[in-house]
Amino acid sequence: MCGIIGYSGHRPAVPLLVEGLHHLEYRGYDSSGVSFIQAGKLHVVKAAGRLSALEAKLAHEPVMISTCGIGHTRWATHGAPEERNAHPHLARGGSLAIVHNGIIENFQELRDELTASGCTFVSDTDTEVLACLIEEERKRASSLLEAFARALRRARGAYAVAMVAPEEPGTVYAARLSAPLLIGVGTGECFVASDVPAFLNYTRDVVFLEDGEIARIGRGGGSWELFRLDDLAPVSRATTRIAWDMQSACKDGYKHFMIKEIMEQPRVVAECMAGRVPADPARDVLDGVSLPELDGMDVPRRLRIVACGTSYNAGLWGARFLEKFGGIPVDVEIASEFRYRDPLLEEGEAVLAISQSGETADTLAALRLAKEKGRAALGLCNVVGSSIAREADAVLYTQAGPEISVASTKAMCSQMVVLLLLALYWGKRRGKKDDSALLTHLRGLPALLEGALPAMRETATHAARTYSGARSFFYLGRGPSYPLALEGALKLKELSYIHAEGYAAGEMKHGPIALIDPDFPTFALALRDEFFAKMVSNIEQVQARQGRVIVLTQPDSCGECGDLHADVLWMLPSCHSELASFLALPALQLFSYEVADYLGKDVDQPRNLAKSVTVE
Ligand code: AGP
Repeated sequence: MCGIIGYSGHRPAVPLLVEGLHHLEYRGYDSSGVSFIQAGKLHVVKAAGRLSALEAKLAHEPVMISTCGIGHTRWATHGAPEERNAHPHLARGGSLAIVHNGIIENFQELRDELTASGCTFVSDTDTEVLACLIEEERKRASSLLEAFARALRRARGAYAVAMVAPEEPGTVYAARLSAPLLIGVGTGECFVASDVPAFLNYTRDVVFLEDGEIARIGRGGGSWELFRLDDLAPVSRATTRIAWDMQSACKDGYKHFMIKEIMEQPRVVAECMAGRVPADPARDVLDGVSLPELDGMDVPRRLRIVACGTSYNAGLWGARFLEKFGGIPVDVEIASEFRYRDPLLEEGEAVLAISQSGETADTLAALRLAKEKGRAALGLCNVVGSSIAREADAVLYTQAGPEISVASTKAMCSQMVVLLLLALYWGKRRGKKDDSALLTHLRGLPALLEGALPAMRETATHAARTYSGARSFFYLGRGPSYPLALEGALKLKELSYIHAEGYAAGEMKHGPIALIDPDFPTFALALRDEFFAKMVSNIEQVQARQGRVIVLTQPDSCGECGDLHADVLWMLPSCHSELASFLALPALQLFSYEVADYLGKDVDQPRNLAKSVTVE
């Protein structure tokens, strides 16, 4: 995610802004910039690449004595990671500059309206549209605060935004809606930032903004005010004292990046849907899923998914939905096998390369092979501007924010969301029957997940204590839970170094069941779908051979667990059957995390592993 910092006080602002951006580097970024007001003039300095590029540019600026400014590190979602798309963005009339984190879903409609009124744009970003909208509103508003509020009331989506303007040279305005933003309260100085590490060296006293609030800092240094966005009523709020050290602050207070990224998944699901699922449910049938990146491409007659590791498991999971809702035959292959097989790709068959990093050598090679064979090559990536994203004929971004931990967690969740949306999108384009009911349930998924995660973590912790001594584990699933079983086994292997095998539960009787004994426990996924009864009998077969079983399941229609018995009966909340995987996935991730943490393993940097395998 992008990093935001703003400052108003008694010190030169620019060094503080750059220092704060360095403390936000862990969030991942591909460009950066600062804006400050000096002698009544608005200055903007920005650079693509690392912060060192920005510092090199600043070194050529005249002495910067401004005591008020804003800074930003950008993690690209709309628009390539180039300087022209870097923040801060100026309003066309130069009357203000803003930095922004999040996605303005209706930015295209606002951009069209502003263009019609003569506004021109130099970037592809939604942020520049917002800057111009504020400047436009200023013509009608009685104050800069009012103009800021009027513009934000028109923006839909998720944002954290900060703004400076020569009209009020010592003031920084900021606002949040579904993206974190907080005030750091110092002595005679104030900060605004997307995260505590940006100013932790200067103050531990913070004020957290709530959604739909505007902050104003400065106006003579050190002061801060809060207002309600919808009516500008003043808001009072106590400061909170942060006890974290810098290291834990980068992880939002979590012990590891992995657990932070697992717990971020509700927000990831919401951001993944932003701009793709109609904001107004009444438009579901009429509009359906919107994936403009693919509007110019034919719907493929067949699809070949190629990927590695967790991304392969996500592809295997998505294939079922692409066939069911998209009506398209799908094959899924491990990229390192596909690339050396000289595969036959039919006329009208497209290849979809799934890769969080967008740099995995085998997956990139598979994408290139598809293009050599003259087939359409699509990418599904998390890193904007990565090799696979650049070389694909079209790319869908998961918008999950940087995934720091080597073990992929929120990336898989976001890949599954996009694959589901892709299935609905292609299904609609092929005139298949409408499945918009699923969109209603998908909209409620972030809240459902948010509510379920704390209890899931507790169950995972207890189960981990009991099973961390196992030497081997089976993970069993059927249907959509089979790829999840593969993923659960991969997570346990790569984090705790305990051997684990994911298996299609129906395969147990064809050999693997010979391995079952009390020291070879099984993790069975028995979600309330059409495979539930079959899974119950698979579980009984394991128990008949003294195998211990952790069962991940959901209550039946009476809210009971029915005739399921297990050593650990892990109950997930009820939900639409097609979305149960989004509850099962974090449970599997949390179990492997808690086992690895209990065993004292290096959770974020497991031995022998790299975040992106850019070699064969
Ligand atoms: C997942 O936890 C692993 N770190 C690994 O399997 C990873 O999914 C695989 O290397 C593919 O990476 P990619 O998604 O960046 O292509």
